[in-house]
Amino acid sequence: MKLPDKIDQIKSYLIQNDFPEEIEAAIILGSGLGDFSTTIDEPFSIPYNQIPGFPHTTVTGHSGELFTGTTKGHKIIAFSGRFHHYEGHPLETTVLPVHLAKAFNAKKLIVSNAAGAINTRFKVGDLMVIDDVFRIFQKVAPAVSQPYRYNLGPVADKVRSIAASIGLEVQRGTYLYAKGPSYETKAEIRAFRVMGTDVVGMSTAPELIEASRLELPAAAISLVTNMAAGVLNQKLDHSEVKAAAESRKDDFAKLVTELIDRL
Ligand code: 6GU
Repeated sequence: MKLPDKIDQIKSYLIQNDFPEEIEAAIILGSGLGDFSTTIDEPFSIPYNQIPGFPHTTVTGHSGELFTGTTKGHKIIAFSGRFHHYEGHPLETTVLPVHLAKAFNAKKLIVSNAAGAINTRFKVGDLMVIDDVFRIFQKVAPAVSQPYRYNLGPVADKVRSIAASIGLEVQRGTYLYAKGPSYETKAEIRAFRVMGTDVVGMSTAPELIEASRLELPAAAISLVTNMAAGVLNQKLDHSEVKAAAESRKDDFAKLVTELIDRL
């Protein structure tokens, strides 16, 4: 089935199953950040595997569930669990949530992820608003021939001032979209630092580019869950990702709620 038909099918199913016909904002929740869904008012959710035509997730820490409800009175949908390209999903599947958000007439998209810090001034638990993206040897959009344009710089300024107004300090920097599934070597991270990038992860860039192509305004937040290889000369460990996310889940949820309301 072609993507537009698949989106129609999914949307019809969701509306028939108590989802609203329109929403204001969509949120894609990164690894370990699914806890935001517990802060939704009047929450309602359907597991991905019950939605006909919906892809399935495999990464641990993702429940694979689509939420709806409100935050501060705004109707939202939240994707708990995403479709990483490195897991073998085609890019079309990776960006399906963006298309679905657009189909529900979302006016804004918030994308989040767990990332490794390249910038040595960053520490585990830092939140960072993405103000630019660096793609390394990666095709990230299905329609690469179409022009796309980032406008993340001005968005980043707004995100930081909204965060500051609720007492949260948020870093700002460049997200390096790296080829997974393995983490990077020390030599690679050293090189990436020289290239001017601040955090590294394996998601978000395809979604942001697709949002830009669909003219859906987007903001993106990284949570630093670990220092990238060699930064502190330590081994990478998946349990760190969970611990860091756990320690900042309340702040992350507060920030996202505020961004939905005020961006
Ligand atoms: Cl260090 N690398 C990549 N590629 N993704 C990550 C990460 C590192 N830390 C969290 N996600």
